[in-house]
Amino acid sequence: MPGFATRAIKAASRVPAAPQAPVNVPIYQTSTFEVGSALELAELLEFARPGHSYSRYSNPTHAALEEALADLDGAEACHATASGMAAIHGVVMSFLRTGDELIIPRAVYGGVVGLSRTLLARAGITVTAADTTDPAIVAEAMGDRSRLVWLETISNPTTAMADIAAICEFAHERGVAVAVDSTFASPYLSKPLALGADAVVHSTTKYIGGHSDLTGGAILGSAAVVAAAREIVINAGGNAAPLEAFLALRGLKTLALRMDRHSANALAVAQALQGAPGVDSVRYPGLASHPQHTLALQTLRDGMAGGMLALELSGGRRAGERFLDLLQVAVHATSLGSVETLCSHPASSSHRQLSDAELAEAGLTPGMIRVSIGLEDPEDLVADLANAAAGAAT
Ligand SMILES: Cc1ncc(COP(=O)(O)O)c(C=O)c1O
Repeated sequence: MPGFATRAIKAASRVPAAPQAPVNVPIYQTSTFEVGSALELAELLEFARPGHSYSRYSNPTHAALEEALADLDGAEACHATASGMAAIHGVVMSFLRTGDELIIPRAVYGGVVGLSRTLLARAGITVTAADTTDPAIVAEAMGDRSRLVWLETISNPTTAMADIAAICEFAHERGVAVAVDSTFASPYLSKPLALGADAVVHSTTKYIGGHSDLTGGAILGSAAVVAAAREIVINAGGNAAPLEAFLALRGLKTLALRMDRHSANALAVAQALQGAPGVDSVRYPGLASHPQHTLALQTLRDGMAGGMLALELSGGRRAGERFLDLLQVAVHATSLGSVETLCSHPASSSHRQLSDAELAEAGLTPGMIRVSIGLEDPEDLVADLANAAAGAAT
């Protein structure tokens, strides 16, 4: 009879048979999977047969999230990653080689700027920023070495929008691929693949998770596009964690309800704060004053514009910093897309890499506040944000 230690390990590793399917996807908290032969393991590592070998490659909980996201985004395939940045890195590095050019929006999530200045610069990839709100400017920016155009459905933090369908059309005519970060819109409000995009990424940390309690990302596209990006993610170690995949699955179940409420709350706040004391302007695609309001109505679900807005405060950088100290309902924290309202000051957080001149170039002002509107009662949010804006101006 084997000794106690051997029996304990064997006994504690028995996976129960579950004749009744659990209502929720189990968290497969295992780094590795027992295989029947060397050939089986070799084939699993090559994705040449269904199943799982090692959780840096795949795991049943990741697979459940990938299938759900592919279904909701209308994609052939999906790969879940450790973060939105791991997804962005995987897509960018799978499309580009040394000497190629990447075109990014003038106003883009700061992590993309960070990636451009570190890894892409060292890899000899040129990064060109263009005003992607105007397809003609993007067309003009494209050169012989352009291989990929990077877009955001709704830009972080300026809420600028790009005409994805128009840009895809002429990019494809020139053999240039288009990838879209659709984190701000989520699969509920926008379907960039249906508009022609070759790849979509989400930071599932945001609306898909929805509760500020996970870090994750996802890559979506054709089987070939996702397989190429997955190879980069696996080799760079950017895989998702099983618990995070479970939390993202739980978040997906209420995504539609939350996006409806985020959008309704954000519109109420945006309308109330337009012209309020201390507020120079409000940027929100749901407002008629937004430069891409018509595009928002045409391309986002039922004219909803999501939960992100940007406030331009009258008092510049100092007002931006004071505003955050005056909040009582909203929370001063980076990140977005959660049940609670989160405010941040891009000039000192997500876009801290940029000088004032570069901020202006990116369409940001030093006094801009990014607001991720949560699910609280809208009147409480209006009162809190209006109070902070008026106080910050004094
Ligand atoms: C639009 C957008 N894309 C990607 C990311 C990166 O996501 P993560 O923090 O999960 O790496 C962020 C993070 O704020 C974001 O706002």
